[in-house]
Amino acid sequence: MGVPCVRVRREEGEETRKRLAASDLVDDGYDITVEDGHLYVPVTDPSAVPERFEVVSFDAPVREGQTMPADRLDFEPSYERLGDLVIVDEDDPERARAIADAIVASDLPVEGVLNRASKIKGTERVRDWDVLAGDTTEVVHREYGCSFALDLAEVYFSPRLATERHRVVQQVDEGEQAFDMFAGVGPFVVPFAGRGATCVGTDINERAIEYLQANAERNGVSDRVTAVCGDVREVADQYRGWADRVVMNLPHSADDFLDTAVELAGDDCVVHYYDIQPDSDPFGPGERAIRDAAEPDYDVTVQHRRRVRSYAPGEYNVVLDVRLRRDGE
Ligand SMILES: C[S@@+](CC[C@H](N)C(=O)[O-])C[C@H]1O[C@@H](n2cnc3c(N)ncnc32)[C@H](O)[C@@H]1O
Repeated sequence: MGVPCVRVRREEGEETRKRLAASDLVDDGYDITVEDGHLYVPVTDPSAVPERFEVVSFDAPVREGQTMPADRLDFEPSYERLGDLVIVDEDDPERARAIADAIVASDLPVEGVLNRASKIKGTERVRDWDVLAGDTTEVVHREYGCSFALDLAEVYFSPRLATERHRVVQQVDEGEQAFDMFAGVGPFVVPFAGRGATCVGTDINERAIEYLQANAERNGVSDRVTAVCGDVREVADQYRGWADRVVMNLPHSADDFLDTAVELAGDDCVVHYYDIQPDSDPFGPGERAIRDAAEPDYDVTVQHRRRVRSYAPGEYNVVLDVRLRRDGE
């Protein structure tokens, strides 16, 4: 299971470990591990780790003598961590209860356990939760050096997209103008702004926009972030031709918003288009929809196609990075 770890070059390892230990942040439940020239130091509270350290999810071995949830069950439970909450996905309430009790009784540093109680639903893409331990659905989650406060019962958030978001973040240049059409609590916008981009994030969910503003402040980038609550189709008019980069993370219905993305695009713009499609043709429908919306005003070049993750049997969550260029650019 992935554990939040500070990753540093091996030669900086001991100094880093001492600094983290001085702040009581080293998680003694797991072994410190060396792999490929890097040291992975497990941490108890990723959100408290100083910004200059990189925090990643790493499969650190459990330290001998520690009690893990599996030690208290007769099966290997499946769960994921989000900040100091643990998330399980169990249909059987008795099994969910047993896992939650085992997690609480283990040596994992955990404040609460939540079970998924519905599918993601509605325009705002939020699901219901059963709180099995603790008393909150609000959490602070850390991802690649940024921290995000969010309430899972009120906003969409998935830690499983961290690697994909980081891939996109690394493309962002200082001074560029980036527009996230479906921004949520800011997991694209905040790190983009951290790289010096000027960002606009829109979301139809008022709570997501409140968290986005708070997360921009929490990460010291609020001067480069504008958070707008509303339907992006109504907001776009104010940003016509503004964007060097557009993020469209609303799989299932992003194609309905391609005209808006084209409206936002400047003369040379990269669009990150997320989609859910069958394995038989994962990229074709998205590419055709983008060409229909943008050509002939723009030259359309697909720069990157990637399966982000399996979504359902035979279906993938995919991304297309597409460059739109007007003549002469
Ligand atoms: C799948 S979530 C993505 C959130 C964020 N980008 C992330 O990666 O965590 C999609 C978001 O789009 C928002 N949304 C849905 N329809 C919208 C619309 N017409 N205009 C603006 N936001 C919308 C939802 O409220 C939700 O927060």
